[in-house]
Amino acid sequence: MKLLVVGGGGREHAIIKSLKKNPEITEIFACPGNGGIAKDAICTGIGATKIDEIVAFAVENAIDYAVVAPDDPLVLGCVDALNEKGIPCFGPKANAAIIEGSKVFSKNLMKKYGIPTAQYEVFSDMNAALNYLDNAPIPTVVKADGLALGKGVIIAQTREEAKTAVRDMMEGGIFGKSGSTVVIEEFLTGPEVSVLAFTDGKVVKPMVSSMDHKRIGDHDTGLNTGGMGTIAPNPYYTAEIAEECMKTIFLPTIDAMNAEGRTFQGCLYFGLMLTPNGPKVIEYNCRFGDPETQVVLPLLESDLLTVMRACTDGTLAETEVKFADKHACCVILASNGYPQSYKKGFEITMTPEAEVATYVAGGAIKDGKLVTSGGRVTGTTAIAESLENAIKEAYRLSDGVKFEGAYRRSDIGQRALLALK
Ligand code: AMP
Ligand code: GLY
Repeated sequence: MKLLVVGGGGREHAIIKSLKKNPEITEIFACPGNGGIAKDAICTGIGATKIDEIVAFAVENAIDYAVVAPDDPLVLGCVDALNEKGIPCFGPKANAAIIEGSKVFSKNLMKKYGIPTAQYEVFSDMNAALNYLDNAPIPTVVKADGLALGKGVIIAQTREEAKTAVRDMMEGGIFGKSGSTVVIEEFLTGPEVSVLAFTDGKVVKPMVSSMDHKRIGDHDTGLNTGGMGTIAPNPYYTAEIAEECMKTIFLPTIDAMNAEGRTFQGCLYFGLMLTPNGPKVIEYNCRFGDPETQVVLPLLESDLLTVMRACTDGTLAETEVKFADKHACCVILASNGYPQSYKKGFEITMTPEAEVATYVAGGAIKDGKLVTSGGRVTGTTAIAESLENAIKEAYRLSDGVKFEGAYRRSDIGQRALLALK
């Protein structure tokens, strides 16, 4: 079988390494892939949002199955375009990917179908938003409606900060069209949990839960990033809470999307907050999380391609999705300066044992060498019988990955360890 994976980050590297365990697969192509993925797949260099070029490549190369991993091509209709040429895909069509593509859509969906989430108001008129903020409870949360590279959420501690965020988005255009409509919502508190779930539009099979570490600095300080490390499972997410989420959030979401004529097939990511009033949805993503995938898929014992095809074929109910009863930790190495400005082009070296455990997010090949080409550069994952040992081993292996200016958080998993005590 010939596969095509759209995307080129650490998540896609983890997906490709997991898919490769299936002996039926003869070739995997990546659009665009990256310098590290090149060890495991044929990198085409075609950008993930170049839908026409991706489709032309897939047709020319007789691709049997495609996996569309990032949000932008999903929202742009990459799955629809490949399906039109008869190529089956893992991932939602554009009309379902809107669950991530528009916060207004997802908030209204939750309100209409009674799915627990933060109270909110939607504004397309800036003055109305500013007036509302004069009396809104503080802290408050301002969100750009559309995709904003994970940066479209501002937690405002004061009214002035909230107003500045609204002006920046609606007048300053810092997120372009994505910010011309904003959602202002209630500030929630509680531990956060990421739950990725396979769904064929009929049943939903959650994967092992995980915890992201979004801030750049130790002890959750500094700017938000794409994610500096992950652990799985998330100790706050007990069996009892999982059961509640299935009843109040997961199944109602699948049913709501069907009722709207927007059947969702693929990986639905539930960003949850376990508030004193029960679990609530912070956000939906229409795809695997990054770097959640780097701890979740290494724990998957079932064959990934089989499960993905079951989502596409509508046979997920009959397909086993089994996870190892173990713990995983992923430690990200980033370029010094990330998430703001940083230099690129430094050589990346890895010991053989580190290389086996490492997914490359931002790496390119230059003069035959692997060099840094992004903010987040690598993610190194270890699996162990206990969370404590998974963390120790992930740090030990990550010591074997080297490049100039490498930065990592030193406390990935520590909050989770405390929760276990
Ligand atoms: P997002 O970019 O949607 O993942 O949001 C980034 C982060 O903002 C989340 O991981 C939460 O920590 C935080 N956040 C988003 N919405 C809320 C909310 N209503 N209350 C508190 N924190 C929030
Ligand atoms: N790690 C968060 C995300 O993938 O959106």
